[in-house]
Parts: sequence; structure tokens; C-alpha cells
Amino acid sequence: MRAMEADEIRMSRALREWWREGCARAGWVRTSAAFAREIWEFLRDSTPGRRRQRFGDVEFDWEHGVDTTSANVSWRSRLLGHFLSPYQPTDPALFHHLMANELMAALEVDCSKFVFVDLGSGKGRTLLMAAEYPFQKIIGVEVVPELHEIARANIAGYKSGSQMCFDLEAVCADARDYEFPHQPLVLFLFNPLPEAGLRQVMGNLGRSVAEHPRPVVVLYHNPLLEQTLARCEWLKKTGGTHQYSAYRNRGR
Ligand SMILES: C[S@@+](CC[C@H](N)C(=O)[O-])C[C@H]1O[C@@H](n2cnc3c(N)ncnc32)[C@H](O)[C@@H]1O
Repeated sequence: MRAMEADEIRMSRALREWWREGCARAGWVRTSAAFAREIWEFLRDSTPGRRRQRFGDVEFDWEHGVDTTSANVSWRSRLLGHFLSPYQPTDPALFHHLMANELMAALEVDCSKFVFVDLGSGKGRTLLMAAEYPFQKIIGVEVVPELHEIARANIAGYKSGSQMCFDLEAVCADARDYEFPHQPLVLFLFNPLPEAGLRQVMGNLGRSVAEHPRPVVVLYHNPLLEQTLARCEWLKKTGGTHQYSAYRNRGR
């Protein structure tokens, strides 16, 4: 199948699901109004002024010779992102704070025993940042093919004198269909999915942990759907601020 046809199928699936979820939650009149707002927001976001603003996040790229900015994503992928979750990379200062304060200090995680998984990994910035810690393996799952290809190129071209993990893998897949590795896990989430999708992912993870008991830590950046994780009885919140929440599985 040609890449453009695959993109069209993804786009129509994303739109259908977005519409179905919206109608179930708020009815078709409100969903039509929300659709018009999304298109308006997308067009506004395409103006040269807005694009210039997004170039504000390129310091990481200059430093490491990669392309993780959200400023130069094609209009097709940005439109798809509007109905999934728009690509936006995690800020390096916040990421390293999460690693040092929550993961290593509060949760006392020994990274060398854990696999790091970012669901909705975009251009792979978090994968590169996680490579500064001695994880056993690092995996990124991204549904938009353009972003996935850029992540692969970034992994190949990353320059850092302090890299500690070299086993990095980028997977192009829908997070809802992803089967988690059976090793101890650090799951990173930066709003990759709407509520129904996140519920499905957490259900998959809960089943995986029940079948293959192991320590699991979830780091949730910008926790807009925190209530969905709160409903997972096997998870316990261990820390957080308005910018993130941290969890681990009970009994660990
Ligand atoms: C806010 S960005 C986060 C990027 C990256 N995790 C980071 O923190 O730098 C969310 C990403 O999730 C991706 N995404 C949306 N729906 C997805 C799905 N069903 N499966 C996998 N990725 C998805 C989007 O394309 C986007 O790249």
C-alpha cells in the first residue's frame, strides 16, 4: 500500500473514532461545533506567526544534531494529529526532573533493570533523553508514519557524549494494539490518546501485569485524563505536580 493511501485510511479512522466518541459524549450538534473549532484551530495554527512560535523548542535539536521540533511537521500529519493528539515534544528540563526526582529518588528505580516505553513517541525526543539513563532498552510507539520515520533517523543520528543506553527501537503502530514487553517497565505518557483509547491501553497494561507480574512505573506528563488512571485499582499514585503524575503498581 502506498504511504499516502495508508495515511488516508489512518485519517478516516481517526476522524470516525473522534466523531463517534464526541457524539456518544455530547451529541452530534455539539460534536459538529467542536469539529468546526478543531478545523479553525488547525488553520490558525498553520499561520507563519504560529509556526515561528513552535520553533521556540529547537535548542535540544541544535545541541544533539536531530529534528524533534513541532514546527516543521507537514500539514497532513498535523491535521491527523488534531484528531488524535497533536505532536508536541517534552521539555528536557521537565523530563530530567521526572527521572531524577520521581523515578530514581522517590521510587528508587534501578534503570538498568527496566525497559522504557513511550506510547505516542512522535519524533522520539523522549527516547533520546531516556538514552542518557542506563535503561535495559528503550521503545517508542508512534502511529503517524512521518513522525516515526523522523524518530528512526533521530535515533541513528543522535550525538551525545553521555549516552548510556544504545538499545533504542522505534515502532510504527497504534498504542491501543501494542503488546507490552514482559520486563519491568517504565511507561511514559504525554497525552497520546483520548479517554477511550487511554482506558484501552491501561486495560491492556493491567492484563499484561496480571499475566506477567513485574514492577511497572507510569510517568504521566500533563495528566489531563488522570481520572482514567485513578480507576486502575492495580496502580497507586506516588507523586506529582500540576505538570505530571507518577504511579507504580500496588504490592511492589
Ligand atoms: C503530545 S505528543 C508526545 C510526543 C512524545 N511522547 C514526547 O513526549 O516528546 C503525542 C503523540 O502521540 C501520537 N499518537 C496519537 N495517537 C496515537 C496512537 N493511537 N498510537 C500511537 N501514537 C499516537 C501523536 O501522533 C503524537 O506524536
